[in-house]
Amino acid sequence: MSTTERTYIMIKPDGVQRNLVGKIIARFEERGYKLIALKMTQATPEHLEKHYADLKGKPFFPGLIKYMASGPVVCMVWQGLDAVKTGRVMLGATNPLASPIGSIRGDFCLAVGRNICHGSDSVESAEKEIALWFPDGVVQWTSALEGWVFE
Ligand code: PPS
Repeated sequence: MSTTERTYIMIKPDGVQRNLVGKIIARFEERGYKLIALKMTQATPEHLEKHYADLKGKPFFPGLIKYMASGPVVCMVWQGLDAVKTGRVMLGATNPLASPIGSIRGDFCLAVGRNICHGSDSVESAEKEIALWFPDGVVQWTSALEGWVFE
């Protein structure tokens, strides 16, 4: 397990419209993860179809693309120990009703089609998603706190 593992986390249009950006960022900062890329963008359906290419053919695919293109999203790369798996635990289950209280979805949303955030499901997906959303790369920086987060 690496302290430099990276995950792609995206706040979906409902998370932005509901003013949850700061709260979601705070959860990752407070846990000890390091922010190495951040932008707000209104994604095109074509770009979103690339992001969700594995889901083409699912009955909810057209609705998912429409929802994701309906407003700006906040795109982030977070780095730290077990970032992919622990990031997903922090988000909660895909269906918010199955998400424990204390997780982001368990605390802030109710419906799978409005589940406010996305997180990479594997290290391989994270690499692909980071390259898709941040083609110019991420920011390498040294945090003075690192020695206090990792032994
Ligand atoms: S599946 O069918 O098991 O492959 O899908 P799943 O892994 O549960 O979810 C993949 C992404 O699709 C989103 N999703 C939906 N969006 C809208 N409506 C419905 N019904 C729906 N079902 C699944 C789900 O939130 C996942 O997107 P991300 O961005 O990863 O949250």
